[in-house]
Amino acid sequence: MECNKTVTPADWRPESWQAKPAAQQPVYPDSAVLRTVLRQLACLPPLVTSWEVENLKQQLAGAVMGERFLLQGGDCSESFADCESGQIAAKLKILLQMSLVLVHGSEKRLIRVGRFAGQYAKPRSADTETQAGVTLPVYRGDLVNQPGFTAPERTPDPERLLRGYERSALTINFIRALIDGGFADLHHPEYWDIDFVRNSPLAAEYTRMVDSIRESLQFMETVTGGRLADMNRVDFYTSHEGLLLHYEQAQTRTVPRRPGWYNLSTHFPWIGNRTRSLDGAHIEYFRGIRNPVGLKVGDPIEPEEVVALCERLNPLDEPGKLMLILRFGAEGIQKQLPPIIEAIQRAKKPVLWCCDPMHKNTEVTGNGFKTRRFDKILSELEQAYAILTEHHAILGGVHFELTGDEVTECIGGASGVTEADLHRAYRTPVDPRLNGEQALEMAFRLARLMKKERQRAKA
Ligand code: PEP
Ligand code: CO
Repeated sequence: MECNKTVTPADWRPESWQAKPAAQQPVYPDSAVLRTVLRQLACLPPLVTSWEVENLKQQLAGAVMGERFLLQGGDCSESFADCESGQIAAKLKILLQMSLVLVHGSEKRLIRVGRFAGQYAKPRSADTETQAGVTLPVYRGDLVNQPGFTAPERTPDPERLLRGYERSALTINFIRALIDGGFADLHHPEYWDIDFVRNSPLAAEYTRMVDSIRESLQFMETVTGGRLADMNRVDFYTSHEGLLLHYEQAQTRTVPRRPGWYNLSTHFPWIGNRTRSLDGAHIEYFRGIRNPVGLKVGDPIEPEEVVALCERLNPLDEPGKLMLILRFGAEGIQKQLPPIIEAIQRAKKPVLWCCDPMHKNTEVTGNGFKTRRFDKILSELEQAYAILTEHHAILGGVHFELTGDEVTECIGGASGVTEADLHRAYRTPVDPRLNGEQALEMAFRLARLMKKERQRAKA
């Protein structure tokens, strides 16, 4: 415990956030039931371990230095109903395919982080919703309540915290089993070939790349006279927005032989753009945990505020501890990002720069669908890359909302989803996701960008 003093601020406790204003928390009708549930949650086994968390932090430190690259992606919001094998495997496959493309383009080792196994709570713009004169609590994600518009469905139910923990455990268990069973084995990329790739205009490019990797692998194995064992598994980490602080606190633990407190509900929690107030409860909670932490950085924010948040969240200036997830939109990034990079560089803060090109490029179409355009997403990504490079900083990661399924939620991409197509397979309860094909195409576009930059730097 002695060492805790050095890594944990002296005035911090897992519950110290409760003395601060906490945005985006549900109001439970019966606080006694909530307390009972939280006590149960606090006794259940952790979902991840501190050494996995520390490994990830070390890998993220590599991304800060430009030696690795982070791919983070998944649903805007997981739903309890989608906790089934097909959906989970499809998500894993698209992330594996994207990471293969990115390894090829960047020549860096990839860090794979899913927005899954706990991404069940959502920040909302209002506390209530009114339909035909009836006002009910807003839907805040499956961890809190249900989307249907009736009072029983919308009333926050603490039992859902336990159901969410269990679904997270089921998801992470299946992912670990797939990975350990060789699902990610580079000798068998056909395990993760999925139909959309075969039918897509990108099929030929993808197949060529997979064949070339297979050939290199065979060559290496011929030369070394053995099987390259490391090629049959990859690390996969989990992440979610740390929004419901009671839930996060219940899973915050100390562990034997390591100082400090860990949030063991996930490897890599992040703080949303709406809950990052310097004096608010979320920053108070996050400043005390040892996990690497993501911070969404978007409108409205001043450069000095970003520096102050870095000081609060990473007082020891550990590389790999803090990732700034930029989300300014294709229209805003050119003006907003440079002063932030300059302020961070002046303050010499070791941050991992990551681009979320999704959240500030959202629009509502004439026919009422919340959507995002492929071109705008790509444009923000390209601009983030260029601006950081001009400042001798490094884009170390990307953050996407995506699914392996053939949904029609975002417009554009080589397969040409149009506004009129959106109704065909629009399934997201919250934000629109890239479908498998759009996600893979995005990875190809980013890989080309990184390859070009590598060649330019070598020249
Ligand atoms: C999200 O990542 O789903 C989200 C709500 O993002 P932000 O906090 O950037 O708005
Ligand atoms: Co979202």
